[in-house]
Amino acid sequence: MPVRQIAEIGEPILRQATSELTLEQLRSCEIQRLIDDLIATMREARGAGLAANQIFEPYRICVIEVSANARYPYFPEIPLTILVNPRVTALGDHPLISGFEGCLSVPNLRGRVRRHPEIHLQAWDRDGRPLDFIARGVTAVVFQHEVDHLDGTLFVDRIEESRSLCTWESFRRYHQAQVASEVDEIVKQWGS
Ligand code: NI
Repeated sequence: MPVRQIAEIGEPILRQATSELTLEQLRSCEIQRLIDDLIATMREARGAGLAANQIFEPYRICVIEVSANARYPYFPEIPLTILVNPRVTALGDHPLISGFEGCLSVPNLRGRVRRHPEIHLQAWDRDGRPLDFIARGVTAVVFQHEVDHLDGTLFVDRIEESRSLCTWESFRRYHQAQVASEVDEIVKQWGS
């Protein structure tokens, strides 16, 4: 499971919509190896998720996992989830929730983004079995960030206030305590 190079902002592949896979493609050794590489690369880089086009592969696949993550110490855990051909639909007319996001493809930058607090997610797992579930709160935010990648969208496109942009060090110094309590409130309200 080699760790792959991560594409950084400015790489055209990050701005291209990815291609859906057929079941036959998904079951190929090439794509199964790609999924293993995505997981290994996400874990090595300590990301909360990683999309295939972030490792220069133009397919509609992403992986998500949050487990005692040093980049996101105030986040609830999310078990390893592999999404193939995911579709996200926002549910309800809840007010958007605001939080700081960062991205392995946008080094040393974070900023405030607003996202839907409740989404319906439909996808396949790595074996082509249908996944159909509702995600809420912080977990829903992480899924929306990753599926955005597969449509060629980066979190910087969704920044609500450009003055919130900051480095990781200034995030830790000036925002982390406040954001950790905001995340606690979201977890209280949405359960995740
Ligand atoms: Ni990202």
